[in-house]
Amino acid sequence: PKSFFFTRHGESMFNVQGKIGGDANLSPQGHTFATKLPELLAANLGPETRLTVWTSTLKRTMQTAAYLAWPQLQWKQLDELDSGFCDQLTYEEIEEKFPADFSERDQDKFNYRYHGGESYRDLVQRLEPVIMELERHHEPNHAILIVGHQAVLRAIYAYFLNYSLEELPYVKIPLHAVVKLTPKAYGCMEERYTVDV
Ligand code: F6P
Repeated sequence: PKSFFFTRHGESMFNVQGKIGGDANLSPQGHTFATKLPELLAANLGPETRLTVWTSTLKRTMQTAAYLAWPQLQWKQLDELDSGFCDQLTYEEIEEKFPADFSERDQDKFNYRYHGGESYRDLVQRLEPVIMELERHHEPNHAILIVGHQAVLRAIYAYFLNYSLEELPYVKIPLHAVVKLTPKAYGCMEERYTVDV
């Protein structure tokens, strides 16, 4: 595949409150990130003259992509890990209400499935069509930007960087940073651009 870029959505109100899941709006800082994203991409696109933006169907990714003047595609498969009955709680609340689940997840984060939700293993399966599409993408001068979520981008990143399934749920994907991956015959070239908000 050719190069592609990815970034998490800008900081959301749930990020500020420490709540997981949900469908929150961007925070003021997250919005600032969204306004700075077009310039950052224009400066770093290199030889690519076309860009297609992939978002999830959640508001925070679409709001982050709102100022990008390139064609956009929404993928349901890019939605964040479904945290089921823990959706919209903080980690402290989860530990307090469901201590057994909390420690079970801690012991095997890749396989732990939230009740009524998903595990990282489920997520990896759901992302198969997205990864196939990235693998198939060979058009010259055409880059893809994925505006995604923490768990989703961990899975995509781990796939291209050959991380183990045990390491995958712990990969660090910071907010307000754009990563460019250029797959090579062996491994991947990686560039990172951070944005001050
Ligand atoms: O906190 C942001 C978030 O994207 C949540 O919506 C999601 O549940 C979580 O990160 C995934 O990270 P972890 O698997 O480390 O809890």
